Amino acid sequence: MTSIATRKLEHLDLCASADVESRRTTLLEEVQLLHDALPELDLDEVDPSVRLLGRRLRAPIVISGMTGGAERAGRINRALAAAAQELGFAMGLGSQRAMLRDPGAVASYAIRDVAPDVLLLANLGCVQARDTPSARVAELIDAVSADAICLHLNVAQELAQDEGDRDFRGCLEAIARLVEDLPVPVVVKETGCGLSPRTLALLHEIGVGLVDVAGVGGTTWPGVESLRGSPRQRALGAALREWGIPTAASLVHAERAGLAAIASGGIRSAHDVLRALALGASAAGLALPFLLAHERAGVEGVVGFGRELAETLRALMLLVGARSVAELRRKPRLLGPTLQAWTSKDLEGPLAPVHLRSARLDERRGSPGE
Ligand code: FNR
Repeated sequence: MTSIATRKLEHLDLCASADVESRRTTLLEEVQLLHDALPELDLDEVDPSVRLLGRRLRAPIVISGMTGGAERAGRINRALAAAAQELGFAMGLGSQRAMLRDPGAVASYAIRDVAPDVLLLANLGCVQARDTPSARVAELIDAVSADAICLHLNVAQELAQDEGDRDFRGCLEAIARLVEDLPVPVVVKETGCGLSPRTLALLHEIGVGLVDVAGVGGTTWPGVESLRGSPRQRALGAALREWGIPTAASLVHAERAGLAAIASGGIRSAHDVLRALALGASAAGLALPFLLAHERAGVEGVVGFGRELAETLRALMLLVGARSVAELRRKPRLLGPTLQAWTSKDLEGPLAPVHLRSARLDERRGSPGE
């Protein structure tokens, strides 16, 4: 087995059995919506469906990208995909780095036969994407018939990992290149540390349209790395365990930056989904809860958990008097003091100039003197 496959399986085992969740909060509990005792709605007319990347989801839920690259990972991907197909959710694949080394690894990501209609997101780390020609990245997407690709950012995890990357230069330019070169949309995704106003503004500037904020409050990857590897890795992982920006704060900043956003990182209940949608999220992503549901009871476990999530969301939408997600976004809400502090306009400092060779960026910025 390759070292990537061994690491991926260790990650799965740790996530399924150990305490890998942040002690901090998403701050979504600071978003309060008001009860409507006279909603004048029939539950049957409450419609939680949304459009994401041009596709309709029956409920605004994404099974976030987790795994691939080993046989067991393949079985998990197929179970998650079958559940996503049944529920009308979107689904992400785990990092396809293993496919760069071994094209045969595609079998553990191939889910189209069980999920022909699912909005499917391919996945690759930004650092690997930087070091890979666009045509090769396009092949990774094509090989699994994905509709878009998530380029993931996981700097804190890489720093903690003994074998992790240390050089993060050139990632913005790589994203700009792939936005231009790939035939499908590029989604930029964190993995549990959130996205700052500056990062969001830069991504917007290079033409990214959709991000997955994956903020603090859920699975912590430095935390996972603190449970394995050398004493150095364990110590740095533990020190970085709670680092990052809460999910709710990143969502507000994404909306202000003009970016559509998937809310993820610590989404654990239909209340979290409701609050994230109210803040403007296009959909909500969950990783660990779907993995745990799968560990408990396979496809049925995932379908059961997902169905309950979607049904509770519909009930909550009725309780705030929202017939649709668009109506939900217009409902009055109360924001608590910590979330207000995290979303202060003072955090939107000036942008340092970025020097990218990008035709699209030149076009968006306009010619000099314009
Ligand atoms: C992940 N996550 C992840 N993200 C990514 O972009 N590529 C990947 O390969 C993986 N791998 C992975 C494995 C496992 C077992 C888990 C639990 C998670 C991160 C995931 O997509 C998500 O951003 C974070 O886990 C935060 O969401 P939750 O877990 O708090 O709902």
